[in-house]
Amino acid sequence: MAEYIRCEERGAAAIVTLERPKALNALNVQVLSELYEVMDGLNSRPEVKVVILTGAGEKAFAAGADIASMSQMTPGEAAEFSRTGHRTMDRIASMRPVTIAAVNGYALGGGCELAMACDIRIASTRAKMGIPEVTLGVIPGFGGTQRLPRLVGLGKAVELLATGRPYKAEECREMGLVNQVVAPEELLERCLELAEAISRNSTGAISYGKQCMSTGLELDLARALDFEQRVFALTFTEHDQREGMEAFLQKRPASFR
Ligand code: CAA
Repeated sequence: MAEYIRCEERGAAAIVTLERPKALNALNVQVLSELYEVMDGLNSRPEVKVVILTGAGEKAFAAGADIASMSQMTPGEAAEFSRTGHRTMDRIASMRPVTIAAVNGYALGGGCELAMACDIRIASTRAKMGIPEVTLGVIPGFGGTQRLPRLVGLGKAVELLATGRPYKAEECREMGLVNQVVAPEELLERCLELAEAISRNSTGAISYGKQCMSTGLELDLARALDFEQRVFALTFTEHDQREGMEAFLQKRPASFR
């Protein structure tokens, strides 16, 4: 039973909440390990189509990796801590369900990296995001130096890294770090509406499309385009392709698996 992670389900969506509000949901080894296990469990359940990740309390999504537990680490312990963080972020980044970070407050350092490991980020107007690691004499250690430039471009990513300052939700939207900004009291509802819209479509096709996009970003364009052609053909081996196209032609809603 997880101490720091709460999971509740609403239809095809699971809401996963980081529950360590007194430390602004800071990520220590226990939080990271529990989050890995919960996400891994959800990934293996086909009926879960969307996972919404958020933080408990009004103040923070997650204020970063746990500074108290990092302060006395040896380089070897830091390497192990970073591996633990990467394992959890990679688990989230490769989920079959669509993942939505509902960024309800501070998402700094490891918290920002956690939001970036999700597919989609919806922020409340109260959210502040950034990577302040250089103010502590370190660099992001849970994937931030790689995921941030892929999301916002190198110039903006270096600006966030070098200033270390928290950026307001609207600034994050403008630079492409978050998809939408909504009022705090609407955040969860808007994420659930998005989850509902997503869950009406073919989960298999979404998963194939996500794999194409993430794998394609690691390849040169010609190989990525070739990969897409192969995956497109693969969707024609699936029930959902036949059902989706027949339903269109018969002018009825599709019934996807
Ligand atoms: N780790 C551990 N504890 C944290 C924490 C963190 N990252 N962030 C906040 N807390 C704790 C505080 O120590 C405080 O605990 P106490 O009540 O026991 O003193 C509690 O949460 C509330 O925090 P504040 O009193 O500081 O709240 P505030 O409203 O004044 O400030 C804040 C909020 C601006 C987010 C501030 O807490 C802050 O700057 N936090 C640190 C942010 C940060 O530097 N994150 C990056 C961490 S490094 C990292 O993430 C590396 C990596 O990639 C692996």
